[in-house]
Order: sequence, then C-alpha cells, then structure tokens
Amino acid sequence: MGVSFGVTRCRGCGYEFPIVGGVLIVAEPGQLIGVEAEAPAFRVGRGVSARSLCRLIERRRYAEAFSRLLNPATPEADLLARPPADVGSPERAPTEFIRPDPHHEPRVPVSVQGRLNRLSGGRLLHRARRRVGEYLLENREKLTALEAMDFYMARYSRAETAVHFAFGFGQPRHLAALSVASLIREREGAILDLACGPGHLTHYFCAGETGDRPVVGVDRNYFRLWIARNFMAPGASFICQWVDRPLPFRSGFFGSAFCSDAFHLVLNKAGCLREARRVTASDALIGIVRFGNAAIEPREGHELTVDGYAQLFGEIPHVLLGEDELVASYRGQEGLDLRRSSSPEELAVQKWLSAVLSDDETAFRKHQPVDGRAHAEGRLVVNPIYRLESASAEGDVALRFEFPTEWYEFENAGYLEYAPGRITLSREVLADVQAGSRTDTVRDLIDRFVLIGVPDRYMPERWPAN
Ligand SMILES: C[S@@+](CC[C@H](N)C(=O)[O-])C[C@H]1O[C@@H](n2cnc3c(N)ncnc32)[C@H](O)[C@@H]1O
Repeated sequence: MGVSFGVTRCRGCGYEFPIVGGVLIVAEPGQLIGVEAEAPAFRVGRGVSARSLCRLIERRRYAEAFSRLLNPATPEADLLARPPADVGSPERAPTEFIRPDPHHEPRVPVSVQGRLNRLSGGRLLHRARRRVGEYLLENREKLTALEAMDFYMARYSRAETAVHFAFGFGQPRHLAALSVASLIREREGAILDLACGPGHLTHYFCAGETGDRPVVGVDRNYFRLWIARNFMAPGASFICQWVDRPLPFRSGFFGSAFCSDAFHLVLNKAGCLREARRVTASDALIGIVRFGNAAIEPREGHELTVDGYAQLFGEIPHVLLGEDELVASYRGQEGLDLRRSSSPEELAVQKWLSAVLSDDETAFRKHQPVDGRAHAEGRLVVNPIYRLESASAEGDVALRFEFPTEWYEFENAGYLEYAPGRITLSREVLADVQAGSRTDTVRDLIDRFVLIGVPDRYMPERWPAN
C-alpha cells in the first residue's frame, strides 16, 4: 500500500516533499496547496504550504496535515455539514448518496455561515476541515469512493462535480476516453495519466492482466487524488502538482501518456505537451482525449479552435478526432481507426475533440477491436445511474435511468442513445452480478451499459443477496 504519511527529500535539490494520505505533493516549500478549483474565484480558504505539511507530518500530526488540504471546493460550502452516522451501511442505496439534491440546503444559510466564519477569524472553516478530515481518515477502511465523494463533494462542498464524478463510469465521455485508453493499455511500459482527477481511467490502466507495471496519476487537486489513491486505483502512484509545470520524472520513463477531459483546462498547453513528450519513450503513444473546441459554447477553460490545436501539435505526427466518432467506435466494438483525422467539417461542429500523437508511425493504422469490454473492467455492478423504481416479492428489481441533475443531462444527453431508459433485472441476474459470473444475460447487460465494472471499493453492495 506504500507510505501513507511521510516526508521525502530530493537528492538533487534538497527540498522536502510531503506524502499525505498516500499522495506525494510536489511543490516548492513555500507554495500553497489547497483545493484548486477550475477557476481561482472559487478558492475558499488559504492553502497550506508544503513546508508546513512536512513539519506537521514530522510531529505525527497526520489528521491536521490531511485536514489542512480539505478546503471546500466551492464558496457555497456547508461548513456545518455533519458526517452521516451509517458508514458502510448496505441499507443506504448508492443512488441516495449523491442524489437527489447535490446542493442540499444547509441548516444555517451559507451567507450566515460566511459571516460567522469571518467573525470567528476563520475558526468555522478550520473546524469544518477537521471534522471532514477526521471522518474520512477514521473511516477510510469502511468507506467507499461514492460515500467519501458524497460527503466531501456534495454535502460539504455542495459542488456539481459530485454528480459528474459519481456517475462518471459509462457516460459518453468515458467511452470516448476508453477507446483511446485501451490502445495505451495494450502497449508496453509505464503509463502516465495526466490530470487524472479521481482516477476513473487510472482504474482502467491498473485493472486486468497488465496491472503490474507502473501507473502514475498527476493532478493539482488533492482531494481527487486522495480518492484515486485510496479507493479507485490503489495500485497506482499519485502526485499532486500542475501538469503544465516540469514533471518530476526522468526523460523517457513512460511508455505512454494519457490525458482525458482536462487539456482545455490547462493554460500552458505547449509546456504540458513538451513535458509529456520528454518523459515518454521515443515511440510512445500520447492520447489526449476530450478537449473543448473554442468555437462552440459553452466554454469552461482555455479552449482553442480546431486550427489552434492543429498548430499546437504542429510537426508531431497526430490525428484529430471528434467525440462522436470515438463513442461510435467504442460502442460498435470496431477498433479505432487512426489512419486519418476526422474531416474538417466534422471537427468544426464537434464540441469535444481528441488527439493521438506518436512518432511511431505504426500507431496510425486501423486497430483491432480490444478484447473484452473496457467499461466492464473491475467489480461488476448495476450502473448507479439506474434508480430503483420497485422491487417484487421474488427479489426482481425494476430500474429507471435517471439523470442526476439538469447540467449532467445537458452534458450527457447522448447516454440514452445506448443505455435503456427502463429495465427489470431478475433476482437470478442480480445474484450472477454479485458473484461476478458473466453469463450470456450478464454480457448482454454489459453491452447495454446497465452493468458496468468499477473499482472494488467504488460503492457498497446495492442489493445484498441475502
Ligand atoms: C474533468 S476532470 C477529468 C479527470 C479525469 N482525467 C477523467 O477523465 O475522469 C479535470 C481534471 O483536470 C485537473 N486539472 C486541470 N488543470 C490542471 C493543471 N494545470 N494541472 C493539473 N491538473 C489539472 C483538475 O484538477 C481535474 O481533476
């Protein structure tokens, strides 16, 4: 499991770097680390310096070090949010964790909490972080990713991102990412997952028979890395730092690099790309999936136009693909065709673009379909996007696909093109799912995205067999 809390010293520069909750934080001693939301305007509370984290860890004040990194992710936070009493209880269906109201009403209005916090010189926030930190650390063994994200992201931070990540497996962008990730997983060598977030794709890189090579996730958001390290991909290593700054790896160490749903958020794209090229082997495949096209609203980061991305990639051999093509190729189990880019007309109308870059010209071919279904890697569960409508006396369950929020629906409208709106699962099928036996019916439900694979500790058992 590696070191949970510690301090490591760089032999080159002599700086010390803290390891908090299994995540290595690479920052200069005085640099403040906090929750880095997508926009600085959302930052709440002062971050903590790498130097003071090291000192806290040396004095074995682990809970304090951890909680200092747990500023809420939005200014709408409920600083009085209480942890649920029923940790790990199978009674509480996972659909209830994040839904139905990610922006639950705090007992004391947010504006009043803000005033109280200012009047108390920041003590309210300090106590809130301690409460959240102690709850997460003390219950780490019992919690699942969904429960931890529910408390930190939905209850305490009141962030919409809670539903985005909770219902991340199986959504269209995940399939687009898997279509490129599966090519990367087939190749040899260590894998670098840039801006990995809570590790949905890192889980895929670690799963399966290829799971014993180094996989490293890098992101600037500490809490998401803590989730990735402790619940989603415990076999991988995680580093908290910016992906558009020099990366702490020797040249050519990785066999491939991957970045999904984040490149448009990165300001210094040329720097990020240069570093990705430096730390990967000369024949590496670099997959950059799902970055925004600036020509299509709404924007959410530092998007470029299609021409802008083409200029950025410049002389590096690459293809540019639209998300529709990637999703269709994944759904059709066709194998990705990297012989040419999508047509300029197609790219011009696609909000989400992807690129595969490599100096290995054999990468630009029509690939064979990847064996098995990438979205079924891991523990098989009923996709949590399905809500229980009714259960019969015999134990059959009637389920309804339900978008958790309007924004999620707007972003994932294509989901219902491949997942059924309603489905009934028999008690026998549920037992097969729980036992992990992949019968014909189970395989059919995997193909329809009713059943998906998740990390072992993603969510509690939904309908225990007895
Ligand atoms: C929408 S999430 C995607 C996470 C993951 N790659 C996935 O596909 O599920 C975007 C992630 O990019 C990270 N990010 C954005 N800009 C970054 C930067 N400059 N350095 C490091 N991480 C960054 C954010 O912290 C966030 O976790």
